[in-house]
Amino acid sequence: MLATTEEMLKKAQDGHYAVGAFNVENMEMVQAVVEAAAENRAPVILQTTPSTVKYGGLDFYFANVKAAAERVDVPVAIHLDHGDSFALAMQALRVGYTSIMIDGSHASFEDNIEVSRRVADACAPSRIPVEAELGKVGGKEDDLDGGKGDMYTDPEQAGEFALRTGVTSLAVAIGTAHGLYKGEPRLDLDRLTEIRKIVEIPLVLHGASGVPDETVKESIRRGICKVNFATELRIAFSDGVKKVLAEKPDTFDPKKYCGVGREYVKKLVTQKMEVCGCIGRA
Ligand code: 13P
Repeated sequence: MLATTEEMLKKAQDGHYAVGAFNVENMEMVQAVVEAAAENRAPVILQTTPSTVKYGGLDFYFANVKAAAERVDVPVAIHLDHGDSFALAMQALRVGYTSIMIDGSHASFEDNIEVSRRVADACAPSRIPVEAELGKVGGKEDDLDGGKGDMYTDPEQAGEFALRTGVTSLAVAIGTAHGLYKGEPRLDLDRLTEIRKIVEIPLVLHGASGVPDETVKESIRRGICKVNFATELRIAFSDGVKKVLAEKPDTFDPKKYCGVGREYVKKLVTQKMEVCGCIGRA
């Protein structure tokens, strides 16, 4: 069933596990993620970035996720990932998205507070949770370039930010990056512990593709309640498609190769749900 992220993140915070948030690009990826959630009795978040939304439209992704969610009896949320403007956040709200991120992390501290507070205020009457970001996650998500090491989230600022914006969850910058890593990523986990001491709302880890499972688990032990995975799902889907087309280059029915892409994504999502500790929590 379609649900907001409010209750699922609260339960994750109380239960010391994280809900997996998976970026989807097409119908097969939506089906893969929701089927994995149903089979594993896990709450789940499906999310779309602005470039994905531009590619297919908010209404198309919402309709796909709603249809998939209605077939299962675990909570399924549809989240706007890295909403880059107040206007896009409001469009997602109107379309029916059950969770919204406003990413003002590229603006100044005060401007980030301003836009995040406006979105939180606008979503509050319909009880749609709002995630914001403070500090800069590295790498390149969508068309946005990420930050460098000196742009990690400051714990004191994070406390002030949460209070002044009224957002319901906070993405923190502790050394992860969107996309794949060249070497092994080194996260500032002590910083996460400090943030957790000051910030009461659920904390979100972006850029989890390529982060070793043990590191993700440790970040969850230290207070992360939502973990975002995008690149690895895109790779899994493409690997499935490529395998079919390499073996049988004459294939022309998209169901044949997209179906295998779907299987690959489903398998990966199950592995990530194990890492998050959300299996059996729905
Ligand atoms: P990855 O592509 O590194 O998994 O990042 C996902 C993410 O944080 C989406 O917001």
